[in-house]
Amino acid sequence: MHVNGLTIRFFGSPGRAATALARDIARGLAAHPGLVLGLPTGRTPLPMYRQLVNLHRNGDADFSRASTFNLDEFVGVAPGDPGSYRSFMERELFGQLNIAPQRIHFLDGSAPDLAAECLRYERAIRRAGGIDLLLLGLGVNGHIGFNEPSDGLEGQTHVARLAPTTRQANAAMFAGRRGGVPRRALSMGIGTILRARRIVLLATGSAKAEAVRKLVLGTITTRMPASLLQVHPAAEVWLDADAAAGLNARGR
Ligand code: GLP
Repeated sequence: MHVNGLTIRFFGSPGRAATALARDIARGLAAHPGLVLGLPTGRTPLPMYRQLVNLHRNGDADFSRASTFNLDEFVGVAPGDPGSYRSFMERELFGQLNIAPQRIHFLDGSAPDLAAECLRYERAIRRAGGIDLLLLGLGVNGHIGFNEPSDGLEGQTHVARLAPTTRQANAAMFAGRRGGVPRRALSMGIGTILRARRIVLLATGSAKAEAVRKLVLGTITTRMPASLLQVHPAAEVWLDADAAAGLNARGR
């Protein structure tokens, strides 16, 4: 279904959404081996990453010429730290694919000059020709990347201050303690996100239902950063039944 400029796709379970998205990416790679992907962390993409690894093992997904840009990284956490998003991606995906290390792009949260690091990332994305397909998760509060609800949003890659709920949601990566989660992160900005040629936001589980309802049916507001996707010409929202529960009144 199409609502407010968004293409909404419904799946019976998180597993089905994951399989369909992994196949979609594999098809993209077959058509364009040099595909430039934007990737999220979090629990939501994990089943899809597992499926991508399976497709790769079966010879159905070749990453040898692909490039990736991750959305965000914690400030003050070195790439090799087990709590970094870089380590997370290495464990869950990159370490199991044939992707060339020099084409894996990440923000370095331990860079001495964070503003310069953000500029470097924007330039690297431009040099790669821009992001072809950007995958997004969704924060319970409507954040995308680390663009938190606020009166104003940053357009470009920037240093972001994390909301308490976001720090709580990331506590598992820091021995379960919210206090252990950094207060700041580097994140692609809303403009960086909206410049991607195609966007797929994946949301699963009932905890995301309210944010999904607002993102799809609500007005565009910086208080719900994901609602900005409504202005993108090719943004899709892929949902399992639980995450889609708030859309049911509209019918499918
Ligand atoms: C984190 C990440 C986001 C991610 C979101 C949802 O804070 N910075 O990129 O989409 O939280 O995470 P999960 O998929 O675990 O719900």
